[in-house]
Amino acid sequence: MNPTRALNISIVGATGAVGAELTKLLEVSPIPVNRLRLLASRNSAGRQVRFRDEICFVEALDEIGDLETDIAFLCAGGPVSIEWGPRFAAQGALVIDNSSTFRMNPDVPLVVPQVNPSVLSDRPRPGIVANPNCSTIQLVRAVRPLATALDVHQIIVTTYQAASGGGRMGRGQLWNGTRAVLEGSSEPPAAPFPVSLAFNVIPQVGEIDLEGVTLEERKLAQESRKILAMPDLRLTSTCVRVPVENGHSEAVYLEFEKPVRLEQVHQLLAQEAGVRLYADGIREGYPTPRFITNPEDVHVARVRVNRQNPRGLWLWVVADNLQVGAALNALLIAQLAIANRVIGK
Ligand SMILES: NC(=O)c1ccc[n+]([C@@H]2O[C@H](COP(=O)([O-])OP(=O)(O)OC[C@H]3O[C@@H](n4cnc5c(N)ncnc54)[C@H](OP(=O)(O)O)[C@@H]3O)[C@@H](O)[C@H]2O)c1
Repeated sequence: MNPTRALNISIVGATGAVGAELTKLLEVSPIPVNRLRLLASRNSAGRQVRFRDEICFVEALDEIGDLETDIAFLCAGGPVSIEWGPRFAAQGALVIDNSSTFRMNPDVPLVVPQVNPSVLSDRPRPGIVANPNCSTIQLVRAVRPLATALDVHQIIVTTYQAASGGGRMGRGQLWNGTRAVLEGSSEPPAAPFPVSLAFNVIPQVGEIDLEGVTLEERKLAQESRKILAMPDLRLTSTCVRVPVENGHSEAVYLEFEKPVRLEQVHQLLAQEAGVRLYADGIREGYPTPRFITNPEDVHVARVRVNRQNPRGLWLWVVADNLQVGAALNALLIAQLAIANRVIGK
């Protein structure tokens, strides 16, 4: 990854959960930055953020004059991406979008650099690259080595998703709601969740459609099929919000066409870069979202072949939704684009 010059980078939504994480990761990344622009709503204009020994001032997105930049990371939600993604791209930026707006557009690559880097070998026609959904990224990173080597019949997933997946507001709801319950005071509004998350579990992430499927469950299936290039993959899930501040967990059941051997599964997972395998459940234990130590990895444990059906395999998969599931993946997309000379020529 050696761009021929330092790059101009804009982060839209820099004051949010994902944007703030991205700014921190960019600071310690090898990407040479000429100018960093931090953009948000008018409410945040003027806020100061330290970046590589300089102070950056947050600017209001709708008050800036020029949109020229090499990379525009969009981390401000769907409506902002719809309006501003094509505008940044039209000014020559490579847009790396964190919302779901463009993910299923056939002209827009949906990229997890450890899984499908080849889809970003050229500049995409719309100038936009999509960052997948948080629960999708950790799932495809964990199952890719198995799905590539073995014939998968179906995948069944239950997610346990953290409050920070609902952004700053989600995290605040968990903290303020918990405090109110403990103090016996009146609880704050449940938004962005359907009911308060404090001391609770909510079997709904995103809107529920007429078939009773939530938006998150739909995204998990559609996006996994696109990233893994397995359009017929049978994947079904129940996505659940749990009162964890940060870090998504997933119980994943894979069923293969033929019986699987635990040693082979261990071998495939152990050699996958960026996957931390806890092969020995007794000695190594298992990851829990609050205590994962390497937030850049996908943590896989509780690997078990189903005794009653040796074609079935269980995994417990934990990852930091703000890093692996959003900011780090976006940054790795940028590094891949630079390495492939899609930008920074
Ligand atoms: N949280 C996750 O785990 C996660 C994972 C994967 C993908 N994503 C996606 O990443 C995006 C950001 O999520 P988040 O969790 O970081 O949300 P968030 O914490 O609510 O942050 C939203 C950011 O967008 C800015 N913003 C809102 N409206 C704006 C406008 N009209 N113009 C300019 N800036 C505006 C906010 O600025 P102010 O501070 O000025 O309000 C804030 O910086 C969303 O599309 C989300 O779906 C999130």
